[in-house]
This record gives sequence, C-alpha cells and structure tokens, in this order.
Amino acid sequence: MESQEDAEVIEELKAYRAKDIPYSRVLSSMCTTPHPIAVKAHQIFLETNLGDPGIFKGTRELEGKLIRMLGELLNKQDAVGYICSGGTEANIQGIRAARNLKRKDVKRDANIIIPKTAHFSFEKIGDILGVEIRRAGIDEDYRVDIGEVERLIDSNTVAIVGIAGTTELGQIDPIEDLSDLAIESQVELHVDAAFGGLVIPFMDEPYPFDFRNDGVSSITIDPHKMGMATIPAGGILYRSVEYLQSLEIETPYLTSKTQFTLTGTRPGTGVASAYAVLKALGFNGMKKIVKKCMRNTRMLVEEMEQLGFEPVIEPVMNVVSFKTEKSEEIKRELYRRKWVISTIREPKAIRFVVMPHVTDDVIVNFIAEFRKVVKDI
Ligand SMILES: Cc1ncc(COP(=O)(O)O)c(C=O)c1O
Repeated sequence: MESQEDAEVIEELKAYRAKDIPYSRVLSSMCTTPHPIAVKAHQIFLETNLGDPGIFKGTRELEGKLIRMLGELLNKQDAVGYICSGGTEANIQGIRAARNLKRKDVKRDANIIIPKTAHFSFEKIGDILGVEIRRAGIDEDYRVDIGEVERLIDSNTVAIVGIAGTTELGQIDPIEDLSDLAIESQVELHVDAAFGGLVIPFMDEPYPFDFRNDGVSSITIDPHKMGMATIPAGGILYRSVEYLQSLEIETPYLTSKTQFTLTGTRPGTGVASAYAVLKALGFNGMKKIVKKCMRNTRMLVEEMEQLGFEPVIEPVMNVVSFKTEKSEEIKRELYRRKWVISTIREPKAIRFVVMPHVTDDVIVNFIAEFRKVVKDI
C-alpha cells in the first residue's frame, strides 16, 4: 500500500509532468515515445551502472552484444565502442580519440574540419578539447564542399567530419569522397550519424555512409533517436580498439582497471532498451518503421506544397524544411497554440522531423491548425 506521503509526492510529480507538451503535438524533436518493449527493458535495468562493469557483468555483456549488432548494421562486425548519453557525448569521444591518436604528429593546436551544417555539439567540442573548429561550406544540395574541406586541411588537422543525416535538413555528406580524402591526407574521419545511423540502413537504397569506407574511423549512432530506445542512449563506434585505448585512464577503486568512457557512472537502461527494440523488431521491423516515417514525410510535403510551401531540398530522410521568410513568426504562433516545430539557420525555413509518433492523424491535425496560422500571420 502506498503511504499518504508517497501518494502526495506522486500527485505533485504528475502535475508537473502534465505541463509537458505531448509528443503528439511535437514535430521538431529527434526523440520519440519509446517503443513499448524499450520501456519494459528499461524497467528491468533501472539500478544498473555500467561505470562499474565487474558488478554489472550481465549488463556489460549485453552492451557488447548491442555494439556487435550496431557494428553489423554499420558493416563492421568487429567494430568497438560503447553506449553513452547521446550524440553530443559520442561526437566528443569520436574527436577526442582522433586528437589523442594524432597528438604526437601535431606541432601546434590541433584542428578539425566540420561542415557548416554540423550539429552545435561541435561548438562544445572546440571548447572542451581546445581544438580549433574549421567550418567548410556546402554545395547547392547542402552537402559539404569537398574542395573546401581539402583546402582547410593542414599539418595540424587531426580529423574531418561528415554528417549522415544533418540535423536541419536530413542531408547526407559525400562520405565516400571524405573517406578518400581522409586516407590521402592521413587524418581521421568521424561520421556523425546520430540521427541517420538508424534510418539509412533501413531505406530502400541505403547510401554507404559507414565502415565500408576505409577512411571512416568512428561513427556516432543514437538509439534514443530513431532507435526508439529510452533516453539516454547514444552510441559511439570505432574501427579498432586503438581508438578506445587512446581514451583510457586508470580507475583504481573500481572493478575495472581502466575506463575509456567520458562519464563514470552510466546507466544500463539505454543498452537494454536499444537492444530490446532491435532484437524484437529485427531488420524488417525497423524497415517498416522507416518506410512509414518516409510515407508520412511525403504526405506532409504534399500538404505543405498545396499551401504554397517549397522544401529546401527534396527530403532524403524523415527530416524536411520549408522555405519561408516568416519562419520565426510561424514557429512562435504555433507554439502559442501548443504545437512545436522548429526553424533552421540557412535559408530561413521551418523544420519538421517526422518521427514514428508523427502519424497521419497527427499530420492531419497539425495541417488544420497550420492553415489557420498562415492565414492569420
Ligand atoms: C546530427 C546530430 N548529431 C548530434 C546530435 C546531438 O545529440 P544529443 O542531443 O543526443 O546529444 C544531434 C541531435 O539532434 C544531431 O542531430
């Protein structure tokens, strides 16, 4: 029986939670309602701490199994890595490993080259790691300009970055060309597939963004986005164990002797929930989810085109932005009406992420409200 005090606390919590906007009104997030099996898995692993893997041996073993699964998906069964807090941490650890491995070759401050379209986590990376961030321009399709990346590389460059599923447009950089360039220039190539990593492999004609390219050294791939795992669940995978070794520090009072992760205490819930979804749904189940999201993306595009809005690029995946000078006003007015969309930096546009919770019903309801908003503005 729940005590009176407990019941009151729970009521208080529910009142706060009720103030959150439900996912059925959110068309801007790269996260989604976790899959029911992810929720069950999460509950079983509530008290686990992968920061002390000698205690949580089963959880650690499961993490290894999930990394092999993700490695297989990324076309390198023996890839190594771990499940972390999200794309930000995965990107930090990808660049940190590259910096550490190349440290002896770099005379002055290290630099990395990222596309202008990169996620803002790279701002944090510059600050935390003290590496200079050089931004390469993009072509007319919003893919990184290879020529510019090449021009920006110098003897202090430790890594170049390609994005497989840009945050704002869902575009994929020319990873094959970046891979050739990385090999030629002897720098690491980190691929940020935080979003696209669990979309592209399940598309009808998957673009080869992964370890099939010999120059790719590390990949960010987040189960808490299209993997429908519970938050937090990010992923960082490396081509070989040297990258992990470059991150290792000694951990004198734990059950392990060394640690390569960024955080110390870290939950096993992300491991369990991500594993459960991939295992239960399998490749075919994930394909069906992605197919539905793509179909709904097309439905949204058709509706928006009828209202006179043109997409910035033809959607590559389930992220789509529409040009409008009134992007900020539209976003603000929709938010006032408790609908959440976002805007992008360049060009002025409103952005949508068609996650599994953005069903056809959600799109119909949204478009009805959107029509009123554009009429009023
Ligand atoms: C391409 C990309 N990389 C990294 C991130 C950061 O992920 P997180 O918010 O899980 O740290 C995002 C988040 O949207 C992203 O879209």
